[in-house]
Amino acid sequence: MATLLLLPGDGIGPEVCAEVRRVAAALVPNLVVEEAIYGGASYDAHGTPLTDEVRDRALASDAVLMGAVGGPKWADAPRHLRPEAGLLNLRKAMNVYANLRPAYCFEALAGASSLKTELVSGLDIMFVRELVGGVYFGEPRGIDVLPDGQKKGYDTALYTTSEIERAGRVAFELARGRKNKVHSAEKSNVMESGLLWKQVITELHKREYPDVELEHILADNCAMQLVRAPKQFDVIVTDNLFGDILSDAAAMLTGSLGMLPSAAIGDPNKPGLYEPIHGSAPDIAGKGLANPLAAILSFEMALRWSLKEVEAADRLLAAVKGALDSGARTRDLGGELSTVQMGDAVLCRI
Ligand code: NAD
Ligand code: IPM
Ligand code: MN
Repeated sequence: MATLLLLPGDGIGPEVCAEVRRVAAALVPNLVVEEAIYGGASYDAHGTPLTDEVRDRALASDAVLMGAVGGPKWADAPRHLRPEAGLLNLRKAMNVYANLRPAYCFEALAGASSLKTELVSGLDIMFVRELVGGVYFGEPRGIDVLPDGQKKGYDTALYTTSEIERAGRVAFELARGRKNKVHSAEKSNVMESGLLWKQVITELHKREYPDVELEHILADNCAMQLVRAPKQFDVIVTDNLFGDILSDAAAMLTGSLGMLPSAAIGDPNKPGLYEPIHGSAPDIAGKGLANPLAAILSFEMALRWSLKEVEAADRLLAAVKGALDSGARTRDLGGELSTVQMGDAVLCRI
């Protein structure tokens, strides 16, 4: 029997994960759903956001689904022990190097976007964000004190050929099953790591994927094009930092940050890490206002990618569509439903 490890985490994480639990029980009763403490909650209990025990349980499960981590409560914790560090360490330990972040506009929500309906209606973009490299992990990094008493803060943006290639392969493979078009976004005009990114993607394309349409785009222009004419994109492959930023921007095209799921995958025989792209939303935490759909749709991706329950995933996607078609809306989507009521709206259609 397959096992899903739930890591609810902080803020609205436990609220949205509770809805995932209910959906899982109704949809795939044989799935074993376990839970572990993680993030700021784990820091409070154990002095670290990710214990070795929880990391090992994650590696031993079939899929891991997290809620969210972080919040003002842990702002002064040492950086390497902050909740966000737990998330980065988990991604690294699981070696989930490709983060699939779909920005898909449900037809019923086209009017909820901050862009004009005709610009987002039918929108279906897939980001492939490189997730375990780049400036997030590059060394050296630090804050040093200079002889004159000033401080110097620095990070290192770096990529190796193989790191770029494996993310690129995921993007090209995905494109073949979609509209066959990849945009590769970097800052090759300014960054050495960006120039290498462009060269490696160009070579990979020529060697292994000449049938796929490839366009290189500078990341700043990509940001502009995403809000000007987002439907020109099919798959966008980009580095860890640009992928973080561009996918948050794309979230608004779909109506709300509370709608966007993600799947972090690596070796197909190892567990994937599924996470909504939103954070712990401290401003609404504990109030029952969070939209649980990003977490529920992350579970949908877990069913599809790690648990090989494609039929259950299809049913869940249809239930979410049905709920939105019927007018179910949490506050972020301009409605009145609570987190649990939105969960109910999905559950009653399973
Ligand atoms: P955030 O995503 O938590 O919130 C941004 C805004 O979107 C807030 O107004 C929030 O209320 C709203 N929002 C987010 N998710 C929502 C949902 N499901 N339903 C309704 N509204 C929603 O980003 P932030 O405020 O910049 O970050 C808060 C904390 O979360 C920080 O500590 C940050 O590091 C962390 N964070 C964690 C993750 C993660 O765990 N994957 C992702 C992003 C940020
Ligand atoms: C995300 C988040 C994380 C990131 C933070 C919380 C470490 O913003 O998953 O998008 O920057 O990757
Ligand atoms: Mn982010």
